[in-house]
Amino acid sequence: MYYIGVDLGTSSVKLVLMENTGKIVNVLSKEYPISFPKPLWSEQNPTDWYEQAVVGIKELTKDIDKTQVGGISFGGQMHGLVILDENDEVLRPAILWNDGRTQKECDYLNKTVGQEKISAYTGNMAFPGFTAPKLLWVKENEPEIFAKIKKIMLPKDYLIYKLSGVHATDVSDASGMLLFDVAHRCWSKEMIDLVGIKEEQLAKVFESYEVVGTLTKEIANELGLPESVKVVAGAGDNAAGAVGTGTLKHGMCSVSLGTSGTVFIASDEYAVDAKNSLHSFDHANGKYHFLGCMLSAASANRWWMENILGTSDHGAEQAKITELGENHVFFLPYLSGERTPHNNPYAKGAFIGMTMDTTRAQMTQAVLEGVSYGLRDAVEIARSFGIKIDRIRITGGGAKSKLWCKMMANIMNVTVDKVACEEGPGYGAAILAAVGCGEFATVEEAADKLVKVTESIEPTKEIVDKYEVLYQKFRTLYPAVKDVY
Ligand code: XUL
Repeated sequence: MYYIGVDLGTSSVKLVLMENTGKIVNVLSKEYPISFPKPLWSEQNPTDWYEQAVVGIKELTKDIDKTQVGGISFGGQMHGLVILDENDEVLRPAILWNDGRTQKECDYLNKTVGQEKISAYTGNMAFPGFTAPKLLWVKENEPEIFAKIKKIMLPKDYLIYKLSGVHATDVSDASGMLLFDVAHRCWSKEMIDLVGIKEEQLAKVFESYEVVGTLTKEIANELGLPESVKVVAGAGDNAAGAVGTGTLKHGMCSVSLGTSGTVFIASDEYAVDAKNSLHSFDHANGKYHFLGCMLSAASANRWWMENILGTSDHGAEQAKITELGENHVFFLPYLSGERTPHNNPYAKGAFIGMTMDTTRAQMTQAVLEGVSYGLRDAVEIARSFGIKIDRIRITGGGAKSKLWCKMMANIMNVTVDKVACEEGPGYGAAILAAVGCGEFATVEEAADKLVKVTESIEPTKEIVDKYEVLYQKFRTLYPAVKDVY
């Protein structure tokens, strides 16, 4: 049997075709545009996601016996607001996870209603990227659109809906909407009232490994797949990525270097810290997790390489970097504002510390280090709760760079484990499809059998010590410059 994992990312949809043995048969990706129509805004067209997913699934499966495809599942960029009218037409472009327009709505929720209450209802405080503040924004700024909303969904749930006809979501992705009671894995009545929507506008909630339905006849024909293909709920991209890297046991930690940068910690119990500094979400294995999220990670590096240096040869630029722990240039990677730890959509990027002899390589190094320091900020929050982090599993496009992995090992003073499949969320989604179709009894069993660590990168004491000094300097920079913005 074959299983398809669809990772609906921000720059592209990545597709993974997996055999029931866990072997990856085919991987491909299809890009689509992102638009920034106004400062702080970040939007995409859901029909682009769907069209590219369809093209991608056809290409992915073109050389196999299609009758052997058992199931399909998803990992998706989280928090995005997709709204449909009564004819199932998309009402406006999706407002994405890295959109920062909703500070006013977040202030209303955190300050007027009160962070304690919001946290008691949902396990989280309001952040500009989350979905509920976006709904409040639409209500206030586009009331004629708000009045027409029939269905509210997350990005990957739009694909689920188009493929199966079922308005469904999963617990991990729903956790990031700020409409969901994470502790009890159900919609929060209080939040639904506060935002002024009705529960019937929201999706039916599934565990990530549960079957939502099967392909509609129309889609099955379009894709050339059997109608019996099971559509499994899937997860937010971070939880799906954690399945793909086997980050399931209590206390395990993974880091994703994608468009966003995330620190993910699996937990057997539900817990919330008093300041809501890390997100508290449901995991794809029926349990829970903490999450810290930087809004620009591999995307900051891509901006530097492609928009500024005008090259796509990341390897050649990185080859010029020789000395770790020696750089006098710092980079604040807040190109899309920042969520963890600063929670400031108005934060901006900055290079600091250049001199006349500063080189291009040092600035490239500063970008990679700045993102790594930012991720360490989230790791330090978790460490301050007493969570021991001395090993991380790494995933995302940035994980392909050995140099970046080495930097992370030394900046965080951890062993960095690389797994066989770098397509974390797509692979995780394929695993969830296999679990949903009964190939494995649990997500844990599947990950134990399928996910293999292939390489471990150890920190070196001398470099760790040097980076410790630089990290402490990095921490002073954002407070020093933040008032400029
Ligand atoms: C997590 C978050 C991002 C997106 C990126 O809270 O906002 O990691 O899921 O796709």
